[in-house]
Amino acid sequence: MDPVTNPYAPGAGTPPPELAGRDELRETIRIALARVRAGRPTKSVLMVGLRGVGKTVLLDRMREDAEASGIHTIRVEAPESRSLPAILAPQLRQALLRLSRIAKATEFAQRALRGLAGFAKALKMKYQDIEVGLDFEPEPGLADNGDLEHDLQALLEVTGSAAKAAGTALAIFVDELQYVEEEELAALITALHRAAQRSLPVVLVGAGLPQLPGRMGRAKSYAERLFDFPQVGALSAAAARIAIAKPASDQGVEVTEDALQRIVQETHRYPYFLQEWGKHAWDATKASPIALHDVELASQAAIAALDESFFRVRFDRLTPLEKRYLRAMAELGPGPHRSGDISDQLDREVTSLGPTRSQLIAKGMIWSPSHGDTAFTVPLFDEFMRRIMPGNDWKQ
Ligand SMILES: Nc1ncnc2c1ncn2[C@@H]1O[C@H](COP(=O)(O)OP(=O)(O)OP(=O)(O)O)[C@@H](O)[C@H]1O
Ligand SMILES: [Mg+2]
Repeated sequence: MDPVTNPYAPGAGTPPPELAGRDELRETIRIALARVRAGRPTKSVLMVGLRGVGKTVLLDRMREDAEASGIHTIRVEAPESRSLPAILAPQLRQALLRLSRIAKATEFAQRALRGLAGFAKALKMKYQDIEVGLDFEPEPGLADNGDLEHDLQALLEVTGSAAKAAGTALAIFVDELQYVEEEELAALITALHRAAQRSLPVVLVGAGLPQLPGRMGRAKSYAERLFDFPQVGALSAAAARIAIAKPASDQGVEVTEDALQRIVQETHRYPYFLQEWGKHAWDATKASPIALHDVELASQAAIAALDESFFRVRFDRLTPLEKRYLRAMAELGPGPHRSGDISDQLDREVTSLGPTRSQLIAKGMIWSPSHGDTAFTVPLFDEFMRRIMPGNDWKQ
């Protein structure tokens, strides 16, 4: 069928034609944000899940939901190399400028902008990547100690007061939160904790890889009580079918029962894979309905596309030893695996591979579900590793 009208959307953060199976989570966030706005005790929410399960698109949709209900939002993505204050400051400024245009909140928002000016100036020494427009002179003593934990707390407090005066809440959406340094995470946790204690309407909605709860717990031991960590994973079978069937039927195209079943089976119900299979099945089909033999043709093309993009970008960032480590894991199956079993595969001591394992964790390729266990953060990565490094050469 015409590739121009192909509705499926494989990609990173590309909104799917149908956001299937996430209504419950969206409702959880809707309730949390409405509660925080009303000054009721509410936990911040951090969604955790593997690569490609749809965390980013969910975060974006939640943000749209929030904005539609009158909640003020900011949205940042934590990159591997920039500091949290640097990515937050410009967004906070925008939010405060918006709040300052609401008559009841003008004074509070301007005070918060003074706080932001002090914050940026005082922290510039330590976080040289902070770049933010300054609209007001700093107020001496307000968020300008030069200590992130203290200053972020003060800044979120004045920001929360501005949101409260405006009758709204500020929801801070942060993607890829696992990349934030532990010291900066600790400051963020403390600041949110303080705002919650003072019933100020500031809340964090975050997303990250499965190592995130552990990192938060190490940053501040009470983090686990302060946050909810809902899992974002593969879709249910019913939702996976909707993700494929609905976009097609919206264009008058049917998908046969056995074709649907095959797609559900091949993708293991992972959202990214569903989009990839949907796209290739559409392209392989001559005319409605999309049938089993179309899916069989599509499977090869979908796997090839995954190997060229989704898996490949991750593989290309690895050193030769990191590749061998992951290949050894793949030899053992999907995982999780014991560190000892992995090093046995390479005929090495566990301790000599410790640094490699740590680097792979820092790159977000693997994580540790429990002490001494290692698992992939990318679904079906074991199959990919066996395809891309076939044979036994990697053992040497
Ligand atoms: N609920 C869903 N139903 C159907 N497709 C979805 C759903 N959620 C996400 N997708 C699709 O899955 C793909 C991956 O989504 P997204 O980039 O949000 O994942 P992610 O979890 O943020 O991945 P990463 O950890 O690599 O950033 C996109 O192509 C998106 O359109
Ligand atoms: Mg993402």
